[in-house]
Amino acid sequence: MELVFATQNRNKMEEIQALMPSNVKLLCLKDINCTEDIPETAETIDGNAILKAEYVKNKLGYDCFADDTGLMVDALDGEPGVYSARYAGEHKNDIANMEKLLTNMEGKKNRKARFKTVIALNLNEHEILFTGICTGTITTQPRGDQGFGYDPVFQPDGSNKTFAEMTLLEKSQLSHRSKAVRELIDYLAH
Ligand code: IMP
Repeated sequence: MELVFATQNRNKMEEIQALMPSNVKLLCLKDINCTEDIPETAETIDGNAILKAEYVKNKLGYDCFADDTGLMVDALDGEPGVYSARYAGEHKNDIANMEKLLTNMEGKKNRKARFKTVIALNLNEHEILFTGICTGTITTQPRGDQGFGYDPVFQPDGSNKTFAEMTLLEKSQLSHRSKAVRELIDYLAH
């Protein structure tokens, strides 16, 4: 079976392909000659994943899945949430986003937060959502130089390391994204 993963990010694609059952071949947007910027204009993470998967299914006619992720911080009423990539502006800068988050968290006692990934799958005229959540806390200083995004300031529950202090393998045992991907893979394997 061929299945489109609605991403331009080849690293993400290869990472997920390696976990897929052997009868599933993933194609990325480039493989189907889609170079358009798919709109991410929904107001929720679920909504954006659905929007991207439906765009590929309805406009381009392929079975497909799409993911969207956000960081929800309790003391900031769930911010940055669906705006995680653009928290400090449309230029989508990881360092600026992290600095804005730490500034907004100054003096806050409650540092609880969670990452949420939603994968929307459009397959054989059905749409199914898979969700992965990772709870943790926002540190007061960045720690570590691995990973991306908010990794240096997010310490998952049960660990004394931030995501940025972990190897890819350690992070993938805990992360929101791998939990959602494992659910998707279980579904496709059965
Ligand atoms: P996306 O939906 O996977 O593109 O994620 C949106 C934004 O959430 C990214 O630009 C990052 O800022 C943040 N983000 C997503 N996943 C992670 C992660 O695993 N660690 C840190 N930040 C992440």
